[in-house]
Amino acid sequence: MTHVFTIAIDGPAGAGKGTLARRLADHYRLNLLDTGLTYRAVAYALIQHALPLDNVSAAETAARQVDLAKLDRAVLSAHAVGEAASKVAVYPTVRRILVEKQRGFAKTPPGAVLDGRDIGTVVCPDADIKLYVTASAEVRAQRRLAEIESIGGTADFIEILADIVRRDERDMGRADSPLKPAADAHLLDTSEMAIEAAFLAAMAIIDDVLAKRDKA
Ligand code: C5P
Repeated sequence: MTHVFTIAIDGPAGAGKGTLARRLADHYRLNLLDTGLTYRAVAYALIQHALPLDNVSAAETAARQVDLAKLDRAVLSAHAVGEAASKVAVYPTVRRILVEKQRGFAKTPPGAVLDGRDIGTVVCPDADIKLYVTASAEVRAQRRLAEIESIGGTADFIEILADIVRRDERDMGRADSPLKPAADAHLLDTSEMAIEAAFLAAMAIIDDVLAKRDKA
């Protein structure tokens, strides 16, 4: 790879894009950014200061303070933080600040895999590869339940499903940068696909693009 290479991965919560992004970044030796963590960091800062999530100027300040090198997944992965993140993510000024940082990251050699909701459409519209990873809401809820149970927790399937549907509506329905596949994205439906199969399918797409480029 001679130039800065970008793989953009978008899709709804729980579709498996995080795991896929990690596998691809390892395989192609690229940097990795889970952009959801940047929105989570803003929400977390507001929660820590007991500020309402609709305090836009506080959210902007928190967004400016986001340090991509210091995103702590363990702290930010809580379910409530994800919910809160989708509320601060509706504000265009907050998005603009975070998108600038994400673009800076993407431009750093040798390039990066970025996953989120608007990578192929807004953050990196010129990405070399765009993947839109999806799965039915039921399958995503089932996976989330299994994940909770695997660490000894309990949860209600119907509640998880309702949460997922609500988050999808918020992410797909917002005015600024709604979740949608870029026109030139490759669709990967993981409803009936294990992560290994999704990884192999993504690799086939990417290797095909690389091979065509080498020939050109
Ligand atoms: O992917 P994750 O669940 O960590 O994202 C949390 C929330 O952050 C999403 O529901 C979405 O509202 C927001 N987000 C976004 N744009 C991105 C990544 C995440 O709006 N690129």
